[in-house]
Amino acid sequence: MTTTEARATAADSGRNATAAFTQKERAAGPVDHARVGAISTDALAALHEVVRRHQVTYAEYDALKAWLIRVGEDGEWPLFLDVFVEHVVEEVANADRQGAIGTIEGPYYKPGAPASVSEAILPMREDEAGTPFLFRGTVTDLDGAPLDGALVELWHADDDGFYSQFTPGIPEWNLRGQIRTAADGRFAFRTIQPAPYQIPTDGSTGAFVEAAGWHPWRPAHLHLKVSAPGRQLVTTQLYFDGGEYVADDVAQAVKPELVLRPTPAASGTGNEVTYDFALDPVA
Ligand code: DHB
Ligand code: FE
Repeated sequence: MTTTEARATAADSGRNATAAFTQKERAAGPVDHARVGAISTDALAALHEVVRRHQVTYAEYDALKAWLIRVGEDGEWPLFLDVFVEHVVEEVANADRQGAIGTIEGPYYKPGAPASVSEAILPMREDEAGTPFLFRGTVTDLDGAPLDGALVELWHADDDGFYSQFTPGIPEWNLRGQIRTAADGRFAFRTIQPAPYQIPTDGSTGAFVEAAGWHPWRPAHLHLKVSAPGRQLVTTQLYFDGGEYVADDVAQAVKPELVLRPTPAASGTGNEVTYDFALDPVA
């Protein structure tokens, strides 16, 4: 681990994740009062039921208030919600898809990474640690026909589990890139294999995990957004077979279809794997 990365704090990741979320374009529409009322009534009733079932005390209620205040102060709402809630929102959102399997986006996406056509070497430091990794595939429609002009965005953590633009000291677009496919629908990224990711332990989300007696780890993963004109965008992640925490992800975002089985690269250096994406048509 570099000295800069060792100094990374939850406050940095939290603040940066909150800034990224605040800048993100979000769907806005008129408030559906009936729906907000129904969801809020049920959400509060679920909470009331937990208070009764566990006979929650005033001391515990005050601890909750103090912790909620701290999550906001730390800027950790994106971290907390994406680890503990997003997987169910994604399950509901993508239940009807036929093609590529999605999973959570997490808090560390940034649009606008360096762009290439068909092939890319992800931006990385001269001494970037980690096993060299060739990740390639084809973007198709549901019938397997290649899609021209599909966009494959890839971002992932480094060999210490840190993301550029969220941990200070890492070059801006490190291990982030995007490829536009040509008529054959193919893409190929050269990068390194990421390491498992640990929720920052010095912030409120880490404190919560520790107090509950859980572990704060996600398995090593690649993040992807794959899209094409007239096709539904899929946001997903890919994991590494046999990797630590694949069977025990704190964010519960692993699905069997998303586990890669890389093999030693034909070039003799590092590993390689092929993974294809079939995109659903826009509804
Ligand atoms: C979080 C971090 C990730 O890298 C991810 O993929 C999902 C969630 C988080 O800390 O919230
Ligand atoms: Fe991640």
